[in-house]
Amino acid sequence: MGRMTNETSAPAGGVGDAAAGGGALVTGVPEQVLLGVWRWAAPDGSDRCGTALLSPQGVVLIDPPPLSAAGRAALEAEAGPARHVALTSERLLPLASAARRAWGRDVTVWLPAADGRTPDAAIESVPLGTVGEVALAWRGTGSPVLDGCGLRRDDMVLTTGDSLRVAGQTLVYHEGEQPPVGEYLRLLETLKATGAVHLLPARHAPEDPRVVASTAWAAGLENPRYAQRAAPVRGPRFIVWQAQRVLAEALAAPVVLRGDVPDPFACSRCGAESRPLRQTCSGPPVPRLCGTCREADRDSHRTPALRVLVCEGGCCTRAGARAVAAALRAEVIRSGAPDVDVVPVRCIGRCALGPYVRVASGAGDEPPTAAAFREAAAAGARRYATEHGIQVDEDAERNFSRFAPRVGQEDAARLIAQAAAPQAATPQVAPPFTLSSSEGSARP
Ligand code: FES
Ligand SMILES: [Zn+2]
Repeated sequence: MGRMTNETSAPAGGVGDAAAGGGALVTGVPEQVLLGVWRWAAPDGSDRCGTALLSPQGVVLIDPPPLSAAGRAALEAEAGPARHVALTSERLLPLASAARRAWGRDVTVWLPAADGRTPDAAIESVPLGTVGEVALAWRGTGSPVLDGCGLRRDDMVLTTGDSLRVAGQTLVYHEGEQPPVGEYLRLLETLKATGAVHLLPARHAPEDPRVVASTAWAAGLENPRYAQRAAPVRGPRFIVWQAQRVLAEALAAPVVLRGDVPDPFACSRCGAESRPLRQTCSGPPVPRLCGTCREADRDSHRTPALRVLVCEGGCCTRAGARAVAAALRAEVIRSGAPDVDVVPVRCIGRCALGPYVRVASGAGDEPPTAAAFREAAAAGARRYATEHGIQVDEDAERNFSRFAPRVGQEDAARLIAQAAAPQAATPQVAPPFTLSSSEGSARP
């Protein structure tokens, strides 16, 4: 239930301190993005953005960072005083405390809870699985109050919280900070299934050229044929207009940030900034080792216990290779097996059956678990090819003799867990390997 609370004590150090002071640092000024909807950026320069929605119950602030005194006055002049604060997560209570200090204590605070109550019946609370958050949704109704500019009847607008982060018009996945990549993709599926037409993300940074260059279609963005198929990367900061396309692209090929660096520009081992390889198959650039890691390998003649090669050419990227690589890295960290290298490689050919993964020892031979996995994957890919009219010729079979085709992120992570534990008694093939489908993935 969206319950009312009279909580009074914000955790120390919340953004409320700045709001309460109303000092020079507070510069958030709202901008109207839809009729009856205003948004503003946190004055601390972070990616946090607030939403003010004019509802029949008065102004509802959603996950609001501080507003400047001038911004507050402007919003009040246009929409009236804030009556409610709705949060997408209890973790954001400090924002509500700050808003109550700014707007007065009769502002009602709504937390996400089981019965989905919100400040107004037109605002729906959408639970987001295990991440402990809700999205707040409303639809175009024809009402002059809730309808947005360019918002058709029944179009859905979704306000999302901390789990969805956006740079420009591109959703970005912060590796290590957000839930595991599989959970993140399930979250995207839930958001997509709502049919949302517009997104108002609570974490929305300005466009970053490196993020643009990391999207699945990056290499072809200037090509009209590709631009037509790609999700938009440019647009206003405060709203994502083509939510269905943007979510579909992020599901197929999430842009992964390691620290603040988009994956292809981060060292494939240590994550420090690095110069990527040129793209293949009209995809984004392919990550590689930074100079320091290359030099360290050269000096120490290091051979890792395991190398996991992941094809990150354009086609495999668009078929889910990013999520596979992120899951592999997470499993390497989780299993405490630092002697495993995840090595992105360029297109290996026969793209229609990617993403491809090869596991090999430092000496180049294939552990038995990996061979069994690859054979099971190849059998699945042959079946898939027959069903979809894809030719499996000698070249494809040559690929299957080295690389496992059509690998999903969960299988890849499990493979590492097994291959990195050679003491495991018997290689397990079916189950646990249930190859995930990528029928829905975009392919050129
Ligand atoms: S992009 Fe991976 S096989 Fe072509
Ligand atoms: Zn490095």
